[in-house]
Amino acid sequence: MASSAAMVEFDRVQKSYDGETLVVKDLNLSMPKGEFLTMLGPSGSGKTTCLMMLAGFETATNGQIRLGGREINNIPPHKRGIGMVFQNYALFPHMTVAENLAFPLEVRKLGKAEREQKVLRALDMVQMGEFGGRRPAQLSGGQQQRIALARALVFEPELVLMDEPLGALDKQLREHMQFEIKHLHERLGITVVYVTHDQTEALTMSDRVAVFNDGRIQQLAPPDQLYEAPENSFVAQFIGENNTMEGTIAELSNGIATVRLDDGEIIDTIPVNVSEVGERTRVSIRPERVEYNRERLSSDAHTLKAEVLEFIYMGDIFRTRLKVAGNDNFIIKTRNAPDQRRLKPGETIEIGWLPQDCRALDA
Ligand SMILES: Nc1ncnc2c1ncn2[C@@H]1O[C@H](COP(=O)(O)OP(=O)(O)OP(=O)(O)O)[C@@H](O)[C@H]1O
Ligand SMILES: [Mg+2]
Repeated sequence: MASSAAMVEFDRVQKSYDGETLVVKDLNLSMPKGEFLTMLGPSGSGKTTCLMMLAGFETATNGQIRLGGREINNIPPHKRGIGMVFQNYALFPHMTVAENLAFPLEVRKLGKAEREQKVLRALDMVQMGEFGGRRPAQLSGGQQQRIALARALVFEPELVLMDEPLGALDKQLREHMQFEIKHLHERLGITVVYVTHDQTEALTMSDRVAVFNDGRIQQLAPPDQLYEAPENSFVAQFIGENNTMEGTIAELSNGIATVRLDDGEIIDTIPVNVSEVGERTRVSIRPERVEYNRERLSSDAHTLKAEVLEFIYMGDIFRTRLKVAGNDNFIIKTRNAPDQRRLKPGETIEIGWLPQDCRALDA
């Protein structure tokens, strides 16, 4: 039922290029129409491979990919109505910029006047209005990237796949283009599958983010859930800054896992993917959720002793490095509020947190 409404579906998809190793091991994903989904993950984790299978330039070794409920294998790439920005721009070198952009419109048999108007509008969108007459070789990397983006969007496809579309742009242009893409997504109601290495970009642009590792989706969730409720150690480490402490589960009851850290201290945590007493665990806590003002902690909160190693003034926040339970790279972040004390290297403090902010994950 939900699946027939889905725009894009990967159903137990596997991919091997050499017939031996699976680079995509078990991919299951269902995207509703209009969603902005980002694939985020380390280099080589299979993101481009997934886009290529969806676009039709690679075939799945096992499993099914469906587009609007239809098995995709029977539809050739140019009939899938997909706009694509490749990781390596792939502009036609012998055509001018304007001809590159007009090409997908010619394929779709649009008239000359309409083509010209759409090409101009697309060029304006990427701030390249003056460059219609140049060839790709006469453009910088970032300019080529913008043309590739314009070409993928010029025919207003229902589904757009973008593989690192802003990687070659400077910060200001990158932010401008993020805004343009997001705006276009909302205005046209297009469905977007986006690949980026940039976490901030993934978190700010997406409805949902799929974190890839080792040919599998480790977690698929909206940005806030991914950041605040990572389901395993990989996701906790990969998204945002994170502190970890290693230990053993001492007790499991009433939705609380009591953990004996390796230096002997006891803390309360939320059990996430641990299930037995005696199991090894890696406990995860975000830097901004650590508190050292006693008044801001509940009276029954467990606290730990911490030694201040380094204080870094960052303007809006203070970033302090501590030694906690044997970990000398434990970071806390505090807002630069008028009453916030600046910690000094060498001093010993007590830190604590709410148990629900501290998650017991796989070791
Ligand atoms: N055409 C190919 N033939 C053989 N192996 C390939 C081919 N394309 C990709 N691979 C391998 O498949 C794995 C996944 O590659 P893929 O390009 O999907 O990764 P990615 O997540 O897009 O990485 P990156 O972030 O570096 O772009 C890698 O180990 C890669 O070497
Ligand atoms: Mg890639």
